[in-house]
Amino acid sequence: MKITPKTKAFGAEISDVDLSGRLSPELREACINALLEHKVIAFPDQKLSDDSLERVSCWLGPFGHDPFIAPIPDREHIIAVCRGAEEKAPIFAENWHTDWSFQAEPPAATCLYGIDIPSCGGDTWYADQIAAAEGLPKALKTMIEGKRAVHSAKLPYAPDGVYGENDRRSDRTMDIRADTSAHATFSHPLLSPHPQTGRERLFGCVGYIIGIEEMPEDEAVPLLMELLAHQTQDEYVYQHQWQQGMLVIWDNRSVLHKATGGYEGQARLLHRTTIQAFA
Ligand code: SIN
Repeated sequence: MKITPKTKAFGAEISDVDLSGRLSPELREACINALLEHKVIAFPDQKLSDDSLERVSCWLGPFGHDPFIAPIPDREHIIAVCRGAEEKAPIFAENWHTDWSFQAEPPAATCLYGIDIPSCGGDTWYADQIAAAEGLPKALKTMIEGKRAVHSAKLPYAPDGVYGENDRRSDRTMDIRADTSAHATFSHPLLSPHPQTGRERLFGCVGYIIGIEEMPEDEAVPLLMELLAHQTQDEYVYQHQWQQGMLVIWDNRSVLHKATGGYEGQARLLHRTTIQAFA
């Protein structure tokens, strides 16, 4: 297996490996180590059926729980991130986030496999939250140290949220199922050690984060916006370009990500699983 780091400080491409073939414990360890070091790892030129995608995901760790998006037919753990060529609904997941950070135990990683990739646009952007934690200005760090952020899925996934009842009347091809359970909240520290590497990282961002415990909303929201501007500065961002047959795995515990558009008139389809943990 050959690891080629991207020119920026994080992200790597991994070649000379066939993920539809034998999946050994040694290869698993090498992949997880690469993920911990590079945070986003891309395996181009893979031929993964849905069976193979499930097999790779389970080999890495147990599936995470994906709320609010219906799985593809006959699969429990694969969702389709898709957009039709003529679709006019807003791009899915175009705001910075960490997958399902509103859960008590958010998934460690996400696997996304490119099936139908437009000839331009549709990049996924990642922001390194270990580098962002290291680069925190002292005053901002003092304001968030020891604070717990309140996470919730309500802004996107409540019935009156972005993907709620209004969105269901749009031409969106993704099968999103908003419901009232999105109002639940769960708190996580804003700054904390990465559970596997121990390196300090910022976890999550405004969007799924709706407030800060023991801080009035009119103070918390501007602070979270200031923090987001810091978290997503160019120096921390890697713009990933997709290829058909590419599997990308990212560490939700050390990066934020978001989808982007720019492929009007072309379809885009990727299959996604989440990994709960690398136990
Ligand atoms: C996601 O957040 O899983 C979607 C990313 C993308 O469509 O690029």
